[in-house]
Amino acid sequence: MCGIVAAVSGFNVVPVLIEGLRKLEYRGYDSAGLALLNPTLTRLRSVGRVAELAAQAEGQVAHHGIAHTRWATHGVPSERNAHPHVSAGLAVVHNGIIENYAELKQALMADGYVFTSDTDTEVIAHLIQQTLKSTPELFAAVRIATARLVGAYAIAVLREWDDCIVVARHGAPLLLGLGEGENGGNYAASDASALLQVTRRMIYLEDGDVAELRRDGIRIVGADGTAANVPADRPVHQSTLSANDVELGDYRHYMQKEIFEQPQALAATLEMIGGAQALTPNLFGVAGPQMLHDVPSVLILACGTSYHAGLVARYWIEQLAGIACKVEIASEYRYRVSVPNPQQLVVAISQSGETADTLASVKHAKALGMGRTLAICNVAESAIVRECALRFLTRAGPEIGVASTKAFTTQLAALFLLAVTLAKQSGRLTPEQEAGHLAALRHLPVAVQKVLALEPRIQAWAARFADKQHALFLGRGPHYPIALEGALKLKEISYIHAEGYPAGELKHGPLALVDKDMPVVSVAPNDALLEKLKSNLKEVAARGGELYVFADADSAVDEEAGVHVLRLPEHYGLLSPVLHVVPLQLLSYHAALVKGTDPSTSSGRTISYLKKFAPVGR
Ligand code: M6R
Repeated sequence: MCGIVAAVSGFNVVPVLIEGLRKLEYRGYDSAGLALLNPTLTRLRSVGRVAELAAQAEGQVAHHGIAHTRWATHGVPSERNAHPHVSAGLAVVHNGIIENYAELKQALMADGYVFTSDTDTEVIAHLIQQTLKSTPELFAAVRIATARLVGAYAIAVLREWDDCIVVARHGAPLLLGLGEGENGGNYAASDASALLQVTRRMIYLEDGDVAELRRDGIRIVGADGTAANVPADRPVHQSTLSANDVELGDYRHYMQKEIFEQPQALAATLEMIGGAQALTPNLFGVAGPQMLHDVPSVLILACGTSYHAGLVARYWIEQLAGIACKVEIASEYRYRVSVPNPQQLVVAISQSGETADTLASVKHAKALGMGRTLAICNVAESAIVRECALRFLTRAGPEIGVASTKAFTTQLAALFLLAVTLAKQSGRLTPEQEAGHLAALRHLPVAVQKVLALEPRIQAWAARFADKQHALFLGRGPHYPIALEGALKLKEISYIHAEGYPAGELKHGPLALVDKDMPVVSVAPNDALLEKLKSNLKEVAARGGELYVFADADSAVDEEAGVHVLRLPEHYGLLSPVLHVVPLQLLSYHAALVKGTDPSTSSGRTISYLKKFAPVGR
C-alpha cells in the first residue's frame, strides 16, 4: 500500500519526510520519492528502499516537502512511475486509484500536456496545472480539479514559489498533524505513525475535505464547500499510539509480533466487560438499548479477513440469538440491487475503519433506509466508526503487518459479545448460560497462549508447503470461514495459491484437483460435525492427498500414512474458531519465511530472509 508524508515547517523538513517514509515502510512499497521546495522544485526518486532515497537526499534543505512510498498499480515499479509526479513546477503524490484517468488523460493530451509515466497520478498533476490557468490560487485549483476525479484518492500537492502544501482526500485515509511552537509547522500523512516523530495532535480529514497547510496555520474546506471549523467540525485528537506500538522490538516481522500479541489484544478488548456476569446493550453505545431491541435480522458488511469474521459471526448470531444473519462482501453489496429492511441491524466490520468499499456499503445501507448501524472497528476516529450509530472498538492496538491477525481474533471476540447481547435481548439466554459464555470469553487469552506454544511443530509443517504451488483448506460449520481465512493468509503472505472449502463440498468438484502435490489442510475440532468431516478426509486420502489436520486434543482423528495431526487443547465450544485460526496464521507466516517472501508486506518482492536475517528470535 502506498504512503504519504507532507511537511511545512520553519526548520528543515527533509529528515521528517525520510523518517516518516521509514515508518510507513511496513505497508510495502516498490519505490519511493519526494519533492522539495527551495524555492524551486527538487524531485528525488528511487526504486527500492527508503534508505536509497535518504542517501540521495543527503545535504538537501527545505521548509516544504511531500514524500511517498509507491506500490505499483498503474505502470510497473520504475523510477519514471515513482511519485511525485510533476507538471511544470507543481508536484503531486497520491494514494488510491483514479477510475476515470484514461478519459482525463486523453483530454489533457489533446490540450498539449505531455505524459512521462504510466500512472493515473500524473493525470492529477496536469489537471491541477490546467485548472491553475483560470484559477491561480493553488487551494482553489485543487478543489476544482479534484471535483473532476472519480475514484479514491488522498493527495498532497506543492508548487514552486508557493508557501503552502494542499492536501485532499476522498475514499483513502489522510490526517493532519499540528506542530507546536514557533517552528512547529504543520504536517499530513496517510498514517499517524509517520507523524509521531513531530506531533501527537492529529486531525482526521473527512471524505471530500481539502486542506491547506502553512507554517503558521491550516484551513480545511469540507465536501459541501464550506470552511470546516477546527476544533468544532474537525476535532483535534491526541494520539495515544506509543513508540512501542509501532516498533518491532525483538520480533523479526510485524506479522509475527502481531500473531504473538493476540492474548494481550484479546485481554485488552475484553476489559470492556470487566468482571461482569451479564451484558447490557450499552456496551455498543448509548443508543444500544434502543437499537439492539427487537432486531429482526442482521446484515454484516466487510471485506477480506473482516468478512471472514462476519461469516463466523453468522453461526453465532443465528444459533444463540435465533436472528437471521446475512454476510455480504462490501464491494458487492454496494453495487447490487438488494431488498432493504429498515429495521435490520447493519454491522460493518473493519480493522482500519477506512476501507472504502465497507464505508460506501454502510452509506448505501443508510441511503436504503437502514439506520441501525454498528461499527466493529480497531480505530476509534475512523470514517466507518463516525458513519455508524453504534460502535464497538476492539483494542488490538495498531496492526502494522499487512496480514490481518490480531484484528481478526479481537473482531471475533466483539462479534461473540454481540451475539450474546442479541440472544439476551431476544430472551433466549438463562443468566447461567450468559455467565458461562462470558467466562469462556475471558479465558480466551490463556487458551490462545497455549495454541501459540505449538509454533515449533507448525514451523516444521510449513517447510513442507514452501515448494508447493497450491493448497486446499477444509473446514465445516463455523470453521469453514476459518478454512477461508487460512487460505487467504497463505495466498497473501506466501504467494501459494490456496482455496478454502466447506469440507462437504469437496466431492462436488475440487476433489478432482487433489493429488500428492496438493497439500490439504483441515480444521478438525471435536464438534458435532467431526464424523462428517472425517468422511470428507477419507476422500482426500483415497486420492493420495497429503493431509495436515489441526484437531483438538480430544478429536478422534488418528495419525497415519499421509495424515499428519497436530492437536490444540481440548475443544473450546462455540469459541473454537478463535483458537483454530491461530495455527493457520503461523503456518502461512512460516511458509513465507521458508519460501523467502516478505511476510510483513506481501509486496510481491522475494527477499531471501533466510540469508539476510538471523534465525527466528523473539
Ligand atoms: O481494514 P479492514 O478490516 O476493513 O480491511 C479489509 C481487508 O482489506 C483486510 O482484512 C485484508 O483482507 C487483510 N489484510 C488480509 O490479511
